[in-house]
Amino acid sequence: MKRLSILGSTGSIGRNVLRVVDRFPERFSIAALSAGRNVRLLAEQVMRFTPEVAVVLDEDLARRLKKMITGTRVEVLHGLDGYRAAAALTSADLVVSAIVGSAGLIPTMAAIEAGNHVALANKESLVMAGELVMGAAEKKVVSILPVDSEHSAIFQCLAGHRRQDLDRIILTASGGPFLEKSPDDLDRITPEEALCHPTWEMGPKITIDSATLMNKGLEVIEAKWLFDVPQDRIQVMIHPESVVHSMVVYKDGSVIAQLGLPDMRAPIAYALSYPERLSLGLPPPDLIDLGSLTFREPDPGRFPCLTLALEACKIGMTMPAVLSAANETAVDAFLNHRIGLGRINEVVQQVMSKHKPVSVPKLSDILSAAAWARRTAEESI
Ligand SMILES: NC(=O)c1ccc[n+]([C@@H]2O[C@H](COP(=O)([O-])OP(=O)(O)OC[C@H]3O[C@@H](n4cnc5c(N)ncnc54)[C@H](OP(=O)(O)O)[C@@H]3O)[C@@H](O)[C@H]2O)c1
Repeated sequence: MKRLSILGSTGSIGRNVLRVVDRFPERFSIAALSAGRNVRLLAEQVMRFTPEVAVVLDEDLARRLKKMITGTRVEVLHGLDGYRAAAALTSADLVVSAIVGSAGLIPTMAAIEAGNHVALANKESLVMAGELVMGAAEKKVVSILPVDSEHSAIFQCLAGHRRQDLDRIILTASGGPFLEKSPDDLDRITPEEALCHPTWEMGPKITIDSATLMNKGLEVIEAKWLFDVPQDRIQVMIHPESVVHSMVVYKDGSVIAQLGLPDMRAPIAYALSYPERLSLGLPPPDLIDLGSLTFREPDPGRFPCLTLALEACKIGMTMPAVLSAANETAVDAFLNHRIGLGRINEVVQQVMSKHKPVSVPKLSDILSAAAWARRTAEESI
């Protein structure tokens, strides 16, 4: 029986993790669950999965949760200390890091520092502080298992091969719902339209990041740290069918790809049960029915957010944290109808142009650079 602490259990990834847990009750049990503000759903999850600990964002939400789950022996915690405690629970075998955005960084670090293995969905942790996160994982002999479908695919394509034979990694991208739109059309797109992803069902931030291709840029940075591969050996390809989740090219010209239907339960289950594969009841893609799979290079003119992310990756230091935080603020402003979709890259670019990166940053430098980026992005908005 594997015991899981799920950080962000009320989100899209968190809910999918619990669907997998529900299917295999003899394999998984729950040590901790955490939400941000959705106490109603968290209360339902607590009643169903009886964790030791449940965490919410603040004291008021904690009071509301306690009322909803009276009669249980679940300890209710709140705020950053609560998330840290849930991440560091010694009774957990694996921490699923699925909080969205920069809020996931400190809990992810807390899990690693406590010596807990991590199934990582929160890509922003690696984008902001990849060197520190991977360094701490190495020191504590902790596994970081990818949940992102592309990184899970690469992880699977690398297995059983010699690292010195690797030529490059190819990250595929669906291209999002506006692949065929002109840049001028982007400012007329509403958040409601942008939230309809053609192939994946995900939380709001990553759905917008997928539409701007910022998500693919963040994934390049994530892959660089996760697999210790230089940026110039990571290629991005648009693949609208989202069936090939990513590929690895070896020096003899062989390409190994991982294919599957676009359903997050597959990479989640692989991270939860690695190296075993679970019978999820998901069919393989019907290649005959699909008929053809298409690939093309992304057009940098259409996707300036991807260009910015690649630039931040190249600069390194605190720049990726600034990119990530400025993007988070800009995406939030778009979702709240304060700016158009086409303004997101402008905000990020303005913030990046004002930042003086700190070399060999400590966690405190990264957190202050991110806080500065959020304030500066807000001014720009
Ligand atoms: N969704 C996907 O298919 C997918 C695929 C690959 C990678 N990822 C990555 O996985 C992470 C989660 O994505 P998602 O799509 O599941 O996001 P989501 O649906 O928006 O869920 C985010 C979760 O984080 C919680 N949360 C939000 N702000 C918080 C804060 N300040 N402190 C603590 N908890 C907070 C939310 O709680 P409440 O809802 O209760 O407020 C929710 O549980 C992201 O980093 C994303 O890039 C997602």
